[in-house]
Amino acid sequence: MIEAIPANNATDLKSCCANLYESDLARLLLGDSFHPGGLALTQRLGELLNLQPGQRVLDVAAGQGTSAIFLAQHFGCEVVGIDFSAESVRIATGRAAEAGLSGLTRFEQGDAESLDYAPGSFDAIICECAFCTFPDKTAAAGGFARLLKPGGRVGLSDLTRTGPLPPELAGLLAWIACIADARPVAEYVAYLEEARLAVSQIEPHNAALAELVRNIRTRLLGAELLLKLKKLELPPGIDFEQAKCLAHHATGAVQTGKLGYTVVVGTKRST
Ligand SMILES: C[S@@+](CC[C@H](N)C(=O)[O-])C[C@H]1O[C@@H](n2cnc3c(N)ncnc32)[C@H](O)[C@@H]1O
Repeated sequence: MIEAIPANNATDLKSCCANLYESDLARLLLGDSFHPGGLALTQRLGELLNLQPGQRVLDVAAGQGTSAIFLAQHFGCEVVGIDFSAESVRIATGRAAEAGLSGLTRFEQGDAESLDYAPGSFDAIICECAFCTFPDKTAAAGGFARLLKPGGRVGLSDLTRTGPLPPELAGLLAWIACIADARPVAEYVAYLEEARLAVSQIEPHNAALAELVRNIRTRLLGAELLLKLKKLELPPGIDFEQAKCLAHHATGAVQTGKLGYTVVVGTKRST
């Protein structure tokens, strides 16, 4: 496995990622759900985790709260969403209040690599389209295992790669777009297994990624127009030409099967 990157670079990466996903640009390009498959795939993840009313669920890297709010509404569970971005936490909290779900959801700022909750305090943990962006994946997986009750379940949905990616899909923008550090499915399984989370299900959802990338390429045209009209601001550090180039090369990687999207479910071992 690739070693964790130095701490100061890691903090820059997380801040940059948080800046992108709290922005209007993210909402414009991705819609409400910031992962392939949208809420249909979140529902599938909830079913695989066998979520039940009254269970406590942690949504790690919850973004603007779309999945957490949906899980509370659809499965009746109590959901805590954490995200690195204070602004996303603010937006998610407001959206939950609008949906009348403040009693079942709570959003807090936090770092997925150092989750600060009591051991064994959650029945289930989800992490959608974000594990691949964490510089220290071992720390994040270890935190999932610590916070789950024995027998509790974790569900990752994430970008996967099948081999080396072209150089155009490296670099900061590709990293925060969940591409540059996407891992082969076997590596995600290894991170969970090393944290004593026994992997029971692996489900490919590559078509959902292909659809998302197609939609992003179309929506980039609209974003470009809004930028020219000065009706959209780019988040700090984002270069629009680079984003278009990334979307072009990501399309190629998805079409040739180098990039995909997969759900992985694991259960905390009791011993
Ligand atoms: C692609 S978005 C996914 C958001 C949400 N899970 C969804 O599917 O709609 C990635 C999210 O990860 C968050 N993030 C990145 N690094 C993080 C970290 N170390 N701890 C917590 N959140 C993090 C970003 O702020 C962003 O909201």
